[in-house]
Amino acid sequence: MIQTELKPLLTSISDFDLKTYLTTEKELVEKALDESLPLGKPEKIYEAMRYSLLAGGKRLRPILCLATAQLLGEKKIIAMPTACALEMIHTMSLIHDDLPAMDNDDYRRGRLTNHKVYGEDIAILAGDGLLAYAFEYVAENTKNISAERIVKVLAILGKAVGAEGLVGGQVMDLDCEGKSDVTAETLTFIHRRKTGALLEACVSCGAVLAGASSDDLTRLSIYAQNIGLAFQIIDDILDVTATSEELGKTAGKDISAQKATYPKLWGIETSQAKAEELVKDAIEQLVVYGEKALPLQAIAQYIVQRKN
Ligand code: FPP
Ligand code: MG
Repeated sequence: MIQTELKPLLTSISDFDLKTYLTTEKELVEKALDESLPLGKPEKIYEAMRYSLLAGGKRLRPILCLATAQLLGEKKIIAMPTACALEMIHTMSLIHDDLPAMDNDDYRRGRLTNHKVYGEDIAILAGDGLLAYAFEYVAENTKNISAERIVKVLAILGKAVGAEGLVGGQVMDLDCEGKSDVTAETLTFIHRRKTGALLEACVSCGAVLAGASSDDLTRLSIYAQNIGLAFQIIDDILDVTATSEELGKTAGKDISAQKATYPKLWGIETSQAKAEELVKDAIEQLVVYGEKALPLQAIAQYIVQRKN
C-alpha cells in the first residue's frame, strides 16, 4: 500500500479509543483469570500460582486472542478459556525466566518474583502447574466449538511452548549471553521463538476458534509475527531508556547480563525505525477487514508507542 492510502487509515487508528478498549477487555480477562484458578489443596501451590497469574500486567496476549475471534465474527466469550490459558503459559514462562538458573530477577510486574516469595522449589512447581493447567483448562472449558478446532488450538499451544517456540528461544538466549558476536539473524531467531511464537499463538488460536480460512490464518500470522518482533525491539529499547519503576521489573538488565539486543546492534534510532516498519506492515495485513480490524491495528500501533 502506498503511503498516501495508509494515511487516512493511520488517522482512524489514532482516533480509535484504545485506552478504553484495553481497560474494558483487561477487566473481563482479570475476572476470568481469577475464576479460572480457585484455591485448592495443597494451598501453598495454588497460592503461588495465583500470586503470579493475578499480578496484573497488560494482558495483551489474552486480549489479542479475544480480539481475533471477534474480528472473524465469533463472540469473544468462546475464546475466553484459551485466552486465560495463554496468560497462564505466559505467566509460567516469566516465573521460570526469573529463576536464579535463568535471569535471576527479583522483581516482576512491580512485585517480588515468585521464587523470592515462595522459594525456588515452589516457583518451579508453580510454573509447571500453570503450564499443565493451561491445556486442561482449554480442553475442559471451551464450549460450543467443534472438537477438531479445540484439538488444533491445543496443538498450536504445544508448538508455541516447546523447542520450536519459547523453550528453543530461551535456550538460544541463554547460550548467547556474554557473547559479543551475536548477529541480527540470531537475535531475530531468538525473539521469533521466545516472544513471537506465543504472540502468534494468541492470534492463531483466536482465529482457529472462529473458523478462520487459510487466507485469514496467513494474514493474521504475518500480523502477529511482525508485532511480536516489534514488541521485542521496543522491550530492548525500554530496557535502556525506562526506569525500573516504569517497567515494574529491573531496568538495565540486558547490559548487566551482557545480552545481545537490537539497540546494541543497530542503535536506538534505527531499532525504533525497524519496529515502526514492522508495525506498519502488520497494520497493512489487516486492511481487507476494514473497520473491524481497528482494535488489532491499534494494538499494533500501541506496541511501538508504549512506555512500559
Ligand atoms: C522474558 O524474556 C522471557 C520469556 C519471554 C520467555 C522465557 C521462556 C522460558 C523460561 C521457557 C519457559 C518454559 C516453558 C516450558 C514454556 P526476557 O528475559 O528477555 O525479558 P524480561 O526482561 O521481561 O525478563
Ligand atoms: Mg528475563
